[in-house]
Amino acid sequence: MSISTPTSVTAVAPGRVNLIGEHTDYNHGRCVPFAIPLATTATLTVRTDRGLTIVSDRAEPWTGSLDDVDARTVTGWPSYVAGVLWALGQDGWQVPGLDITISSTIPLGGGLSSSAALECAVAVGLAGLVGAPLDHAGRLHLAEACRRAETAYVGAPTGGMDQLASLLGAVDQAVLIDFAGPSPVTRTVPVALATSNLTVVVTDTGVRHSLADGDGGYAERRAQCEAAAAALGIASLRAADVEDLTRLTDPTLRARARHVVTENARVVEAVGALEAERWTELGSLLSASHASLRDDFAVSCAELDVAVAASLDVGALGARMTGGGFGGCAITLAKSEIAPRVRGAIDAAYAARGWPPPRHHEVVPSAGAHLT
Ligand code: GLA
Repeated sequence: MSISTPTSVTAVAPGRVNLIGEHTDYNHGRCVPFAIPLATTATLTVRTDRGLTIVSDRAEPWTGSLDDVDARTVTGWPSYVAGVLWALGQDGWQVPGLDITISSTIPLGGGLSSSAALECAVAVGLAGLVGAPLDHAGRLHLAEACRRAETAYVGAPTGGMDQLASLLGAVDQAVLIDFAGPSPVTRTVPVALATSNLTVVVTDTGVRHSLADGDGGYAERRAQCEAAAAALGIASLRAADVEDLTRLTDPTLRARARHVVTENARVVEAVGALEAERWTELGSLLSASHASLRDDFAVSCAELDVAVAASLDVGALGARMTGGGFGGCAITLAKSEIAPRVRGAIDAAYAARGWPPPRHHEVVPSAGAHLT
């Protein structure tokens, strides 16, 4: 792919919440995220040389060139941009020198996929510049390139859910993703929040994590899942069932695997509940997912647990942490008239512990990444 016209484009890519199916993507499992109204915007302008500038409303500007991208010497937040240019260059795209301007409404590192939104905005912008199709196949390709940017360039061993959610999101729809095969299979699932008088509250705990950190949490969970699959003699935990768990003698590996096996089953039930609008059942599945992530997968934290408990105490249908964990955000599914009480109860619980007030957002399933 090479540049024709235009020479400047703007792309918008949303963040996401994951309704259910956590830490399943890299285990060849299933998940059901949806794109949210918070989004990242990238304007890409073609240069006549190999220069590359990246200006963000969140950080110091970065100046370099495509040679830095190729040499893989770009670090920090600009590496998410460089990684996408690198990955699409590897796929044979003619990447020009660019001036890139970025702005975002997604809290950074808060579990709402600020990184994936940045990658996808740059990828869709570049697709616009080179005239690459933005149909379903084109979007699957971009999602894979963005995932590679994150795993191979940035060094965060993530699983691909976030990029697919950002690229395939649709208004009033969640995206069911099945990672069982060599490429992910997706379909949209209606999430009739407004017509059912329901609200999804996102609570940002303010506790920050980085999936690329050497602190081990995310990478360690992934390694434990792989070790559990190896101990069972299977390619991935997708192939495991509940009976297999008794064959795992290491209690930690057994607990990690139990989360993945039960979570994959919960996704199937949750999609059935969504399609039949059985909201009480969906809420119970969300809360069961949280308990599993807290007790078996051990990726929650006190701030997430307190938010979930406070929501349930005031009558929410269900609540859970969303995303990788170790901080970030919780989501609550509640009747719309309960939503103010949910926010108030979480605020009060935080204040009682002397924690800084969390931030709440009400989100609806929103459009996927697009050119403006
Ligand atoms: C992060 C990763 C995803 C996924 C989730 C956990 O968001 O980027 O790939 O593994 O954590 O479900």
